Amino acid sequence: MRLTVTPISAIQGAFRPPSDKSLTHRAYMFAGFASSESIVRNPLRGEDCEDTLRAMIHLGLRHEMLGPNELRLIPTSEWMQPNLPIDCGNSGTTMRLLAGLISCRPLTVELFGDASLSKRPMGRIAAPLKLMGAEIEGDRPPIRIKGTQLQGIDYVSPVASAQVKSCTLLAGLRASGTTSVTEPSLSRDHTERMLRAMGFSVITDGLKVSVEGGQSGQGFEFNVPGDISSAAFFMVAAAILPGSRLEVNELSVNPTRTGILDVLTQCQIPHGIFDIREELGEPVGDLVVQTAAQLQPFEIKGDLVPRLIDEIPVLAVLATQCEGTSIIRDAKELRVKESDRIELVADGLRRMGATVETFEDGMAITGPTRLTATHIDAHGDHRIAMAFAIAGLIAEGVTEIDGADSIATSFPGFESELARLSLA
Ligand code: S3P
Repeated sequence: MRLTVTPISAIQGAFRPPSDKSLTHRAYMFAGFASSESIVRNPLRGEDCEDTLRAMIHLGLRHEMLGPNELRLIPTSEWMQPNLPIDCGNSGTTMRLLAGLISCRPLTVELFGDASLSKRPMGRIAAPLKLMGAEIEGDRPPIRIKGTQLQGIDYVSPVASAQVKSCTLLAGLRASGTTSVTEPSLSRDHTERMLRAMGFSVITDGLKVSVEGGQSGQGFEFNVPGDISSAAFFMVAAAILPGSRLEVNELSVNPTRTGILDVLTQCQIPHGIFDIREELGEPVGDLVVQTAAQLQPFEIKGDLVPRLIDEIPVLAVLATQCEGTSIIRDAKELRVKESDRIELVADGLRRMGATVETFEDGMAITGPTRLTATHIDAHGDHRIAMAFAIAGLIAEGVTEIDGADSIATSFPGFESELARLSLA
């Protein structure tokens, strides 16, 4: 599918972003091993999370629609042996977290994905799971897992990845003894927060997280809040289009996910969060973002990177409008996301006229640049498609984005929501 975008003058209004993808995946999976049923309201109905729900149903989870946006999830005490391989679609979270849940059960399961997921590294989760005693074949999807009774490990992860951490801890909940994961910097902590809200004991000591095997936790009621990684696209649009004001409602503002707000502060973009409440251990708030008179350049490196890893494509678009050189380093992970996001972002922005230097672990972008429209191939990557849609709002001419159907993995209704908030 091709998306065409033409310039607008401003973004104005309030919106409730699509529900958080990471939280929806976890709600479906964690309901599968709870000791009682769960109710999930407002799950993200994007393709990635639908793949997780389908996978869990193959493994024995029962579900009942209570309304258009409300599900009852009923766990089974013994997970079912699926008779076919499980399709994880485009979703790394589905494959990596499921691998942990399958490895500690008496199941033999093959997990496969689409062309993009088939290129992504799975050795990073196979390593801890093998140390715990699971049998896993395949460094890239498809992967075959033979689960068994596992032993706890004290694992030092080479990457700051919530998927690696979550996979290992989920396996650890059924392993003998203690399982710990230490990461180089703090990745998103949704798993830890949700498990605690279910009654599991999860101990965090700096960058080390530990669980004891053999615990149980109850079902939950969860209203899934909005996803800051989806809201980020319109937040950047509001920041770069003069005269904009955007209100984002019911947003997940977990501090391990709000690195973009640190970047807004660096750029001197007026913004604020108000009315913080809590939902299943997750902070939720409302946010206002406005245009800045002049955009200062920003620097992203070190511990900030995992707190905004999925927002970097659209933050690169923001960098093209900042007065000076913005730097993104320590972000080598971008090369193994749904696409090589460093190459695709740099190539597309250069073709729109921007000054971009690439490094193995990041980019330097010097602005401000008046962008001109071009043709983009999103290579099946939803965040690339949406980042260039935002660039298209300030580029002279008609920006054409091929592969825009991928947007449905995380932001169904992106185009209509953008049209509703746009001032001509
Ligand atoms: C996710 C973790 C991040 C993120 C991905 C979702 C999660 O990946 O990029 O979109 O739900 O745990 P890594 O854990 O591989 O960094």
